[in-house]
Amino acid sequence: MDELFSLTLKLHGSFVGILLLMAVFNYFFLNKKLDLVTLKKRVRAVLPSYYLVLSLILFTGLVLLGAVQFKNIYFVVVLMITVWLFVLVMSIKTYKKMKFLQTEEIESYVAFYKKKYIIDTVLLFVMMGIAYMAV
Ligand code: HEM
Repeated sequence: MDELFSLTLKLHGSFVGILLLMAVFNYFFLNKKLDLVTLKKRVRAVLPSYYLVLSLILFTGLVLLGAVQFKNIYFVVVLMITVWLFVLVMSIKTYKKMKFLQTEEIESYVAFYKKKYIIDTVLLFVMMGIAYMAV
């Protein structure tokens, strides 16, 4: 059980690192000079892999909790789940807003999109810091 826990912990930490890198990459992937079609294509291109890594974080997190029979649900884990949910909900919003986007709204959408990835980057970075200090 110890081996399962330590391997999964490494994977969990790595997936979090990958998500952080993806958030930084996504931030630079859109700009307000893009036309509507290219912008939508780019959002559709980046979101699935973001969701995939998010689900891998949830999966490994649940395996970690399973490995300790859900006995270790302390404050830091509750905080991780909250951050995870926030990132997921904002990603869904990013997609929904993009679906009905019009050309005249590109500027405000790009501002929203960039703010989303700045918040994700800061949240993930801070959460990683707290988790590595506490775990
Ligand atoms: C995006 C949000 C998340 C971040 C940034 C995050 C980050 C981390 C980090 C950096 C560690 C320590 C890894 C290591 O020491 O190698 C960790 C451990 C852990 N995470 Fe997460 N995590 C997130 C989401 C989740 C979720 C959704 C769950 C549960 C469903 C979860 C459950 C756990 C557990 C159980 C541990 C081990 C705690 C222990 O050793 O007692 N995490 N997490």
